[in-house]
Amino acid sequence: MALLFRAPRGTQDILPEDQPWWRFVVARAEETARRFGYRRIDTPMFEQAGLFVRSVGAGTDIVEKETYTFTDRGGEEMTLRAEGTAPVCRAYLEHGMHTWPQPVRLYYICPIFRYERPQAGRYRQHHQFGIEAIGDASPTVDAEIIEVGWRFLTDAQRGLGLRNLQLLINSIGCPQDRPAYVQSLRAYYEPLLPRLCPDCRGRRFHKAPLRLLDCKQESCQALTAEAPRSVDFLCGACQEHWEALQGYLKALDIPFSVEHRLVRGLDYYTRTVFEVQPPEERAQAVLMGGGRYDGLIEELGGKPTPGIGFGSGLERIVLQVQRQASSPPQEAPPDAVVAYAGTDTLLQALTLASHLRQQGLCALLAPQRSLKGQLRWASALQARYTLVVGSAEAQRGTVVVKDMATGEQKEVGVEGVAQALGAPAN
Ligand code: HAM
Repeated sequence: MALLFRAPRGTQDILPEDQPWWRFVVARAEETARRFGYRRIDTPMFEQAGLFVRSVGAGTDIVEKETYTFTDRGGEEMTLRAEGTAPVCRAYLEHGMHTWPQPVRLYYICPIFRYERPQAGRYRQHHQFGIEAIGDASPTVDAEIIEVGWRFLTDAQRGLGLRNLQLLINSIGCPQDRPAYVQSLRAYYEPLLPRLCPDCRGRRFHKAPLRLLDCKQESCQALTAEAPRSVDFLCGACQEHWEALQGYLKALDIPFSVEHRLVRGLDYYTRTVFEVQPPEERAQAVLMGGGRYDGLIEELGGKPTPGIGFGSGLERIVLQVQRQASSPPQEAPPDAVVAYAGTDTLLQALTLASHLRQQGLCALLAPQRSLKGQLRWASALQARYTLVVGSAEAQRGTVVVKDMATGEQKEVGVEGVAQALGAPAN
């Protein structure tokens, strides 16, 4: 059959068989957020286009090449949510959250849209679990954000139990530290320009020099080892913050490596940046990325307000959980399939299935086919019980309850069926 339509390139359907994995990951994310005192926020799927330009940065890949921007019928430029932090900061300002106890701790689970070149682990629509703590500049909050992410991914009891992950951290300092660092980076790279890839030689060198460090081209990578390091350009306060954070992570027993090339691809970051990588080290495999953004709220029109958070890609995390898990999370099968011997008992079967659902059970009416066909259907669904409504039983007000695991059968009065199947007595 030639398909008339397919899911758009870089998007995917999450089919019923994958849902248990997704539910497991989302449940662990929400449970971790709850334990750390983060409350859920949902923002619109699209925002005024200027929000992302101002926050993520006009010169970034995301804003330059990847946003889904359209003019709505009222003539306003809108952009599908390209990341989660800017909308949350917009909401912080719009709802006067500066009057709440600080920091305001928020989390979100939502789709994100970026027009990227699709490949394994890189999609045009992906989902993120993200958290933000806004209104506290202390390095204890940096440690907390990293701890939330680390426990979510690695805790074997209450998180996902992922193994062999690597936490990379760096400090890129504050805007006061930046000019001297950028100058030193440019001085280092200038004589090397002919050896850099065209993107680094052009756009990165001139517009986004920090990003020279995370170019994935081999020729450029080779030159990063000797490049100046941002941590050598930190002012006193940033240096203190950076050292305190490392001390807290050690105290919390969270293993990390300092990665001087880690700069992240969004303009709003200041001081701490971090990423979590899976065992296979590829750019499109990074499971989580985040950092501090102490200038962002001000950039969006608010008073100077510090903030920090992370975003984590659920598609990549689900893949990693599937790869590492020994067995899939268990989905409950239907409690009962209600079968019937002929059309004269169909009505009893129909109302019985409805009655069982009202008692809280998952009950399905078998499709209209022979009784044998209905029973086969029930076992294909792995229902716990099959209930057969025959004409003799219908007259007696009973049904035959068959336990599909043991094959055991018994006749039960219609009123007692829900209890026989394990529903709590009313
Ligand atoms: P980001 O690094 O752009 O940061 O995205 C966060 C995570 O989302 C990545 O580490 C990755 O797991 C996943 N991700 C990103 N793009 C894709 C894609 N095309 N396909 C699949 N997964 C993807 C942010 O978005 C920041 N807002 C994070 C943040 C929150 N920083 C502070 N607070």
